[in-house]
Amino acid sequence: RASAFVFDLDGVIVDTAKYHYLAWKKLANELGFEFTKEQNELFKGVSRKRCLEILLDIGGITAAQEQFDRWMVEKNEDYLEYIEKMDASEILPDVPKVVGFLKDRNIPIALGSASKNARPILEKVKLLPSFDAIVDGNDVSKAKPDPEVFLIAAQKLNVAPENCVVFEDAVAGIQAANNADMISIGIGDAQILSEADYNFNDFTEISLAFLESLMSVQA
Ligand code: G6P
Ligand code: MG
Repeated sequence: RASAFVFDLDGVIVDTAKYHYLAWKKLANELGFEFTKEQNELFKGVSRKRCLEILLDIGGITAAQEQFDRWMVEKNEDYLEYIEKMDASEILPDVPKVVGFLKDRNIPIALGSASKNARPILEKVKLLPSFDAIVDGNDVSKAKPDPEVFLIAAQKLNVAPENCVVFEDAVAGIQAANNADMISIGIGDAQILSEADYNFNDFTEISLAFLESLMSVQA
């Protein structure tokens, strides 16, 4: 029986993947190679450091630690310029409907994201006060599919993992939820997210009756 909900951020609450893409593409272009939208798919749910490792692999570039760190900083500064301009209009459709429904019923909700920019983004889109707990890239040492991020969220909400529901758009995120023994809901392509317990293309497909059913039946 579900008694708490955990939301991933990028690709679930807001579509920041497009800003990550533009910032990584700029760096790739500066280094003299292309970075495509298809390649950007590999970056979903993946830590900033791992993303840069993959990017440099794509470009066939090896770098000393210092240079690597400078590129990480540079990419993030470019990314933050996009974040700076965000507002509530960038919240994905019907996310406020689901969040509002849960808040009205006093169901605790947490954020479970690999991003170190999660708090500023939630602040920008005015959702920060809605969350009872935030677990982000600053709090975890093990990346999804490791369940750490979601287990810490459950702990912070004081709810057993098996009573938590996770909304995720990344394969590694669904695996992390499953590894945490939580109920996983894939947001996006059901074929890609086939390991999820439930699948929806986006929140407009999630009915309040469905949420209700998760909370009342033995899920
Ligand atoms: C999310 C995104 C990834 C991103 C990661 C770290 O998981 O899906 O694409 O690389 O967060 O984000 P950050 O904001 O810390 O660079
Ligand atoms: Mg995501």
